[in-house]
Amino acid sequence: MDRLKGKVAIVTGASSGFGRGIAMAYAAQGAKVVVSDIHEEPNKGGFERDAQLTTAAAIRKAGGEATYVQCDVTKQGDVANLVQETARVYGGLDVIVNNAGVYRAGKLAHEFGVEDLDTCFAVNVKGMWFGCQEAIKLFLRQGRGGNIVNIVSTAGLQGHPRQSVYNISKGAAANLTRCLAIEYGREKIRVNGICPTYAKTSLTRALFDDKDFDKAFTDVIPLKRWGEVEDIANLAIFLGSDESSYIHGDLIRIDGGETLCRFSV
Ligand SMILES: NC(=O)c1ccc[n+]([C@@H]2O[C@H](COP(=O)([O-])OP(=O)(O)OC[C@H]3O[C@@H](n4cnc5c(N)ncnc54)[C@H](O)[C@@H]3O)[C@@H](O)[C@H]2O)c1
Repeated sequence: MDRLKGKVAIVTGASSGFGRGIAMAYAAQGAKVVVSDIHEEPNKGGFERDAQLTTAAAIRKAGGEATYVQCDVTKQGDVANLVQETARVYGGLDVIVNNAGVYRAGKLAHEFGVEDLDTCFAVNVKGMWFGCQEAIKLFLRQGRGGNIVNIVSTAGLQGHPRQSVYNISKGAAANLTRCLAIEYGREKIRVNGICPTYAKTSLTRALFDDKDFDKAFTDVIPLKRWGEVEDIANLAIFLGSDESSYIHGDLIRIDGGETLCRFSV
């Protein structure tokens, strides 16, 4: 239970879904966690346990250490304040998990409006950029390295139909991860990405409830099931801990084999 003992971690978009699961898992492994999001309540329609509790309250109820800082990752000032507050409250920063993200789907490329494109880029690209940039500034000042875990997607590694605005934003997030790993490795700042396939959160609820989609999806997944928040949280613990100290610039698929093959057996 001590795999992150003594570490201070920020998780963005941590009120719901993966972010909430990662924040809770990090706290359970001994990290002091700064939970941040645009709103403190979990999204409606997700799969959260104890959804009446905020993430910070759920962590504290389980005996962990957490503070909530409101932050819209599309605003650089908010992200700078998030990092500053973390240093003020917990004395420094060891890990940032850039998780906040939005999804847009259901249209062919020529049908998407510019708002969908702008929203995906504002949150999934610019938001991740700001999170990396502000954390790196503090890591450099601290002079003891640091650790960045970016929540990307298998959508950043391949094409999918009817979600081009999302896929191109995640493609940018994947390449940002690679670029930063090249630039900051010598400063002992590790940068890695997690690439899940569809997993059960409020973001995918409508797809999960669509029986046709569910069948088509699980048919092509060799493990024949959706991802769970805990699957992603377990990988995030590993990447956030010193157990992964020589893993750098990687984009790790966590997809039940989705990206191996398009045909079911
Ligand atoms: N669920 C999946 O199947 C799946 C698969 C691959 C990748 N992802 C990625 O995982 C990440 C988390 O997704 P999720 O499924 O947990 O979604 P979710 O909708 O359940 O949670 C996302 C959280 O991000 C927050 N958020 C949205 N915009 C924000 C902003 N501007 N600033 C701060 N917080 C903001 C939301 O309030 C919410 O709490 C996203 O980057 C998503 O693209 C999800």
